[in-house]
Amino acid sequence: MSGQLAGKIAMVYGAGSVGPGWGNGKAAAVLFAREGAQVLCIDRDGAAAQETVRLIEAEGGTAHPFIADVTEEGAAHAATHACAEHLGNPQIVHYNVGVSQPGGIEDADLAQWRAVFAVNVEGAMLAASAALPIMKSAKKGAFVFISSVAAVASGGYQYASYEASKAALNRLSQTIAVAHAADGIRSNVIMPGLIDTPHVTHHIAGRATAAADLAARRAAAPPMRRQGTAFEVAQAAVFLASDAASYITGAVIPVDGGLSLTVPSA
Ligand SMILES: NC(=O)c1ccc[n+]([C@@H]2O[C@H](COP(=O)([O-])OP(=O)(O)OC[C@H]3O[C@@H](n4cnc5c(N)ncnc54)[C@H](O)[C@@H]3O)[C@@H](O)[C@H]2O)c1
Repeated sequence: MSGQLAGKIAMVYGAGSVGPGWGNGKAAAVLFAREGAQVLCIDRDGAAAQETVRLIEAEGGTAHPFIADVTEEGAAHAATHACAEHLGNPQIVHYNVGVSQPGGIEDADLAQWRAVFAVNVEGAMLAASAALPIMKSAKKGAFVFISSVAAVASGGYQYASYEASKAALNRLSQTIAVAHAADGIRSNVIMPGLIDTPHVTHHIAGRATAAADLAARRAAAPPMRRQGTAFEVAQAAVFLASDAASYITGAVIPVDGGLSLTVPSA
């Protein structure tokens, strides 16, 4: 590895994975460490956070687990304090936590909408709010938010609250980018397309269709004719978090094999 994040301290929210294999947050945490960052691995699932820490330490990196549910008030502040205490002041905040619920507007369930927005938008705002004072006093910091192409395009199923919340996340990042550019803080978004993660195989497949069918259809959809990997998303996150992206802020970058450029054939 080329040490793109050498000497940096990163917080990764949602650093575990919901099943065996590589989720986007787990891959980001491990890749950040491979590139030289020390990583606070935050997850509501302690075993999942610990597993990511174990992988990082096994490769000679430095990481620390932190158990928190991003929807709980005070969780992001506690995580930021833990980062400062165990590793040092965070210079990178990578917000990967995201949940989806199927459903349209007519059958909208208010409790479900609130739950999706609490994780996808409010959690991101709280993570940023907790880290901003530290970054401002250091005059340096980078946020990377994991959104989705669902923020700008619809797929074959109705995921209204997911689409609306990811669009709000895109704008939240740009709001931070403009408000804090003069503080030396950058904020960028990655919109993954169809990524082959445990979340898809374990959750969405069970809900919608058989896993093998779903994988085949997901692979056929993007112009590249395959799903992406969590590490392909993580590579973009490393770049955006690194000093190589020093003049990039407010960007919304698809990592989707061209998916968001296509329209379904009639
Ligand atoms: N896989 C895809 O095709 C795809 C496509 C577009 C966007 N995304 C986005 O990627 C991100 C998820 O990636 P992943 O594969 O790492 O997901 P994941 O479902 O494996 O979740 C990552 C971790 O987040 C943790 N988590 C969930 N809710 C939490 C909460 N309230 N507080 C703290 N931790 C919580 C889980 O325990 C898990 O370990 C989401 O933001 C999702 O919207 C994924």
